[in-house]
Amino acid sequence: MIKKIFSYLLPIKIYETKSSLSKSIEVTWSNGELVLDSENANYSYGSLQRILRLGLKNIGYEKIVPMKHILVLGVAGGSVIKTLVDEIKYKGKITGVEIDPEIIKIANTYFKLDEVKNLEIVIDDAFEFVLKTKTKYDLIIIDIFQDTTMPNFLFETFFIHRICFLLNRKGFILFNTMILTDSQNKRNKKYVAEFFNPQFKIRTIPRLEIHNELIVIEKLN
Ligand SMILES: C[S@@+](CC[C@H](N)C(=O)[O-])C[C@H]1O[C@@H](n2cnc3c(N)ncnc32)[C@H](O)[C@@H]1O
Repeated sequence: MIKKIFSYLLPIKIYETKSSLSKSIEVTWSNGELVLDSENANYSYGSLQRILRLGLKNIGYEKIVPMKHILVLGVAGGSVIKTLVDEIKYKGKITGVEIDPEIIKIANTYFKLDEVKNLEIVIDDAFEFVLKTKTKYDLIIIDIFQDTTMPNFLFETFFIHRICFLLNRKGFILFNTMILTDSQNKRNKKYVAEFFNPQFKIRTIPRLEIHNELIVIEKLN
């Protein structure tokens, strides 16, 4: 409680570990809230949670509540999962795919992710998982970062075609991207401009944070 109060003045780090993928993983009290960070990026809770909440709002909570199965690629501390379950009261199934087993231990210890009854965690590379899965989903959230880097496969047409194939009709993809350079800005513009499939509609959401852009893809029928 004391740490929480003091964290309004200065962030207080309560746990830190090395990670080969994310350089370091830190759990910190910041502005009265427990957040999970990598060396240079906010991974879970804090601004990341606000960004993804905006994306879910943009899709429409009323469309999310009746969904049956949501896939989350990139789990970390699980803040978008908490938004779905605690705030939106989504009761369907959630499958979360995370490459780093250490981060799931932290999510369970500090953020009680293992208390979410409708959540199944799969430790796997998201790319491998989407190739293997035979399930179809109503919403697929793509939130994959290795510190501030987004793996190249995320922007390859093969991956996005596969993700689109895994979507039920009237389903949604919510893709969180980071833009730190002009070339990444161009990458996003090209991605949206060149995505063409009459069965889908693609749009970006006005940014909450200058460095994050959310892309929404909707399967029309
Ligand atoms: C920004 S965090 C995810 C935050 C989470 N969606 C939330 O709402 O709190 C990014 C996560 O992607 C994971 N990651 C990176 N590469 C991955 C991959 N190829 N497959 C699965 N997860 C990956 C990282 O380990 C990290 O936990």
